[in-house]
Amino acid sequence: MELSASQIRRLILDEHTVLRDILEEIEQTLGEMTRRVPGSITRLRTSLRTFHDAFVRHLEHEETVLRPVLVDVDAWGPARVAAMDEEHLAQRTALAQLSHLALDQDLDGTVQHVEEFVRRLRADMDGEEHHALSEEVLRDDIIVIDTFMG
Ligand SMILES: [Fe+2]
Ligand SMILES: [Fe+2]
Repeated sequence: MELSASQIRRLILDEHTVLRDILEEIEQTLGEMTRRVPGSITRLRTSLRTFHDAFVRHLEHEETVLRPVLVDVDAWGPARVAAMDEEHLAQRTALAQLSHLALDQDLDGTVQHVEEFVRRLRADMDGEEHHALSEEVLRDDIIVIDTFMG
């Protein structure tokens, strides 16, 4: 099934909503860790794993579904895709670092590290929505305009 630009936009934005919910859950657990609530490390480990899997799937979706549309939207398409590739590389590195972190060795250090990760991922998603996923960029009339120009 072919998806239109606006359908792809909707799909990716819906995934961002799910990802933000998990980030919120992670932040709540970080609060519990700071208060040394029993079981919080296990909960953090679980929600980090949930986030990891959801985010990896999200990156793959963007690369297979969004990428081919984004590259063609306008003259900045290739630059937008290059920026996305670069961001995804950095995000995969941050995910890998996080999955190797021994969460229970230095609780405050873990809280700080994960807080920073959450902040960065939120900023990345906000920026992406502003630049690559805006309504002006992912329009359904792209093909029509191309036809008129050609
Ligand atoms: Fe992305
Ligand atoms: Fe994204």
